[in-house]
Amino acid sequence: MKNCVVSGTEGYAKQAPFLLEQYERLSFEESYATAIDHFPRIPSKILDIGSGTGRDAAWFDKKGHDVVAAEPTKEMREGAIRLHRSPTIRWLDDSLPDLQNVRKLGETFNFIMINAVWMHLDEDQREVAMKAVAALLSKNARLFISVRHGPVPDGRRMFAVSAEETIRLAAHNQLVPLYNEHSESIQATNKAAGVWWTNLIFELRA
Ligand SMILES: C[S@@+](CC[C@H](N)C(=O)[O-])C[C@H]1O[C@@H](n2cnc3c(N)ncnc32)[C@H](O)[C@@H]1O
Repeated sequence: MKNCVVSGTEGYAKQAPFLLEQYERLSFEESYATAIDHFPRIPSKILDIGSGTGRDAAWFDKKGHDVVAAEPTKEMREGAIRLHRSPTIRWLDDSLPDLQNVRKLGETFNFIMINAVWMHLDEDQREVAMKAVAALLSKNARLFISVRHGPVPDGRRMFAVSAEETIRLAAHNQLVPLYNEHSESIQATNKAAGVWWTNLIFELRA
């Protein structure tokens, strides 16, 4: 049978044992140093897309939020479930751009997190994805998107994505920018390699 790899996930299954350890070394607070001020403070419905090791889903869960974590790479998703045992996080096998399984829930969210995933989508996928994500936001909900720039790790599928394009796509879906920050990588090896990030937060003003 043909082995179907979800586009964007190339390289993750093979590296999962290493990544499950590496990503968990960074705390949530370190990762979102200033953006965190714009994250929900009252119990909210959160969707974490491309949830990886589950670090962020688990942080929101512990703060009392209602969390759905969508991750297409089986090795990452199963590792996350093992690392962050929680009866309340709903772990889904799902992917951008379509988010078919999340949509089947028939729910909307107050905050959607897409950290270090967006640049894995090509231009057409980004357009479809922004529309799908916007449709999952509740009134006045917020969307966090971070985009990686710089050298591409071996075996990964990654595209050069600008903040301007992301802001334009968001605007087509009634999403207004609240926060736009550039930061260098907090991982020492990535920083040394010249990796940097754009962190964006939008609010739905439909
Ligand atoms: C760099 S990791 C980031 C993980 C997590 N968000 C974090 O901040 O630690 C990227 C994750 O996105 C997932 N991914 C790749 N392509 C995806 C897609 N098309 N839809 C959703 N997730 C995807 C990968 O499997 C991987 O777990």
